[in-house]
Formats: sequence, structure tokens, C-alpha cells
Amino acid sequence: MFFEHYKDLSFKKGICVDLPARDLEILVESLNKLFLMLVTMDIKTTIKLNNSSKIPILGLGTWELTGKNAEQSVLWALEAGYRHIDTASIYGNEKEVGSAIKKSKVPREEIFVTTKLWNSDHKNPEKALESSLQKLGMGYVDLYLIHWPAKQRNETWKKLEQFLKDGKCKSIGVSNFTIKHLTELMKTAKIMPAVNQVEFSPFLYQKELLEFCKSKGIGLEAYSPLTRGRKLGDLELAAVATKNKKSPAQIILRWALQKDIVIIPKSRSRERILENADIFDFRLSEGDMKVLDELNEDYRTCWNPNEID
Ligand SMILES: NC(=O)c1ccc[n+]([C@@H]2O[C@H](COP(=O)([O-])OP(=O)(O)OC[C@H]3O[C@@H](n4cnc5c(N)ncnc54)[C@H](OP(=O)(O)O)[C@@H]3O)[C@@H](O)[C@H]2O)c1
Repeated sequence: MFFEHYKDLSFKKGICVDLPARDLEILVESLNKLFLMLVTMDIKTTIKLNNSSKIPILGLGTWELTGKNAEQSVLWALEAGYRHIDTASIYGNEKEVGSAIKKSKVPREEIFVTTKLWNSDHKNPEKALESSLQKLGMGYVDLYLIHWPAKQRNETWKKLEQFLKDGKCKSIGVSNFTIKHLTELMKTAKIMPAVNQVEFSPFLYQKELLEFCKSKGIGLEAYSPLTRGRKLGDLELAAVATKNKKSPAQIILRWALQKDIVIIPKSRSRERILENADIFDFRLSEGDMKVLDELNEDYRTCWNPNEID
């Protein structure tokens, strides 16, 4: 880290010689935090997509949040400074997401809203988008995704290109697309997907897909970035967490951020929504990143899109 270097230097130059070791440690920690605040990311940090739209690097996932829980979680997230909410027609919570956004009083244009076209809606994408917009109570979404690479995906993509021209979506993208699906889509697409939202974590480190997306200018978004909580007890992850004085969830999220990956952790608890956003005041060392890179075991919590032709 930047100030680690100065810790030694200061002794050599005699600047801090009178400081007891613990005070010096606190000083270095504070300077590190200040340095991170000045030069790196925060909760409002965005990534520029290939159409110049900006997507906040941290969003709230909403799968399995319904009714009052969905509305309350979105309100807590917006209160905590999140400006990106991920929903989908299949989650059955677009109405609550829209109503929380209205209640929050945060201007609509400051919030990045994603929704998705479900598999059974490929026969009428216009109707699907209209229904989502109506439930959300919005005139546009910031990002509209094809949820899964269903058979008609390439035809449906043409409809999404039209939605973009009509201004009903600010960006369009895909979800659960493999390199094969993307390569095939690119043969007929006039507009490149801005985003590919896929399952991604240190336990499912899809390096090849990440590099492919980067090379084509497609932003990668990580869903189930916390492995739905199932791998948070891993011992190597716990050791990195202890070393950095953070929780395993915060470490796993920070790992993705340092790879410029957008993350959308979900929580129904206010404490965890705050915890998942408290990841901008530290930085994982190269060594820690390497430990996490090596946790890959192709672990999935969701269906495997490689099995879809
Ligand atoms: N495109 C797709 O096909 C697709 C598929 C799956 C998900 N997604 C999107 O991605 C979002 C995130 O994925 P996900 O919901 O599957 O899983 P996730 O975000 O990896 O994990 C959510 C689970 O972790 C728990 N959790 C949250 N914060 C925690 C923390 N700090 N410490 C310990 N446990 C914590 C939550 O419990 P509590 O709620 O009780 O806190 C919940 O059980 C979804 O909500 C959805 O928006 C998209």
C-alpha cells in the first residue's frame, strides 16, 4: 500500500521517531484511508459502458425480495447511498422497487435501474417491456437485459435494439451469456451488448469470460457475488478477512471491485446492506487477490448456461 513505503522512510528521515509504534500504526492506517478516499472508488463510483452510459459499480440485488421486504430493502439501500437497483420481471417485485424509488425522493435520473426479459416473454418483448415499465412506474429503464440465452435470443436482441432507439432503455444487454452465445449474437447484432450479467465470485472465477467481455467492450456484472452466503465460511477467505479487519462478505465484494466488475449483492437486512457498501476504505494487496483468485472451484448457485445450446 502507498503509505507502507513512507512508514520506513519516515523513520529513516527522523520525522516520526518520537511516535510510539501503535500511534504510528494508527497514523499509517488513517493516511491509507485518506489516500483511498482521495484516489479510489466510493459508493457513487461508476463504470463507463460501451455506449458512454455510466453504471454504478455497486448495486442492490433484489431476487427473492417481495412485498414489504423488497420496498424496505430498496429504501434502506438508497438511504445508504446505493444508486443502482437490479430487478427482473420474474422476481415479481418491480412494483415495490418502483414504489420505493418514488418514496425515497432521490431523483429518478440519479438511480440506475435494471430489469430483465424473462424466458417466456421472447414471443412478445414489446409487451414484456411495457409491463415492466408500468409496474416500475417509469418511462424508461437504465438497462434492459435478456435474462437467459433462450432459443429466440438473437431475434429478441433486434427488438431490444429498437427499444434503445425508442428511448425506452438507456442501455441494453444480456445475462447468462457464455462466450459461445456472445460470439453467435455478434454475427447479427447491430449494437453490442453493453453488459453481460453472469454468476461470478472467487469460487466461480470465470477468467476467460471476463477477458473476452473486456476485449469486446462488454461490461461484466457479477450476480450472486456472495455465493448466496454459501461460501462465506471458507477458511482461506476468513484468513484474508481477519488480516484486513473486514468480513468475508466485504472481502469477496472488494475482490470483484478491484477487477472493475459491477456487483449487485442482495440483502433483506439493513445492517448487511450497510456492511456490503462499507468496502471502499481498504484495498486488497496483490497477495490477497492471488489467494482469492485461487479459490475457484467452478461453484455455481444457479443454472449453468454452458448447458444451453
Ligand atoms: N441474471 C440472473 O440470472 C441472476 C441470477 C441470480 C441473481 N441475480 C441478481 O443478483 C443479485 C445477487 O445475487 P443473489 O441474491 O443470488 O446472491 P448474493 O447477493 O450472492 O447473496 C445473497 C444472500 O447472502 C446473504 N447476505 C447478504 N449480505 C451478506 C453479508 N454481508 N454477510 C452474510 N450474508 C449476506 C443474504 O441474506 P439476507 O438477505 O438475509 O441478508 C442472501 O441470503 C440477485 O438478488 C439478483 O438481483 C441475477
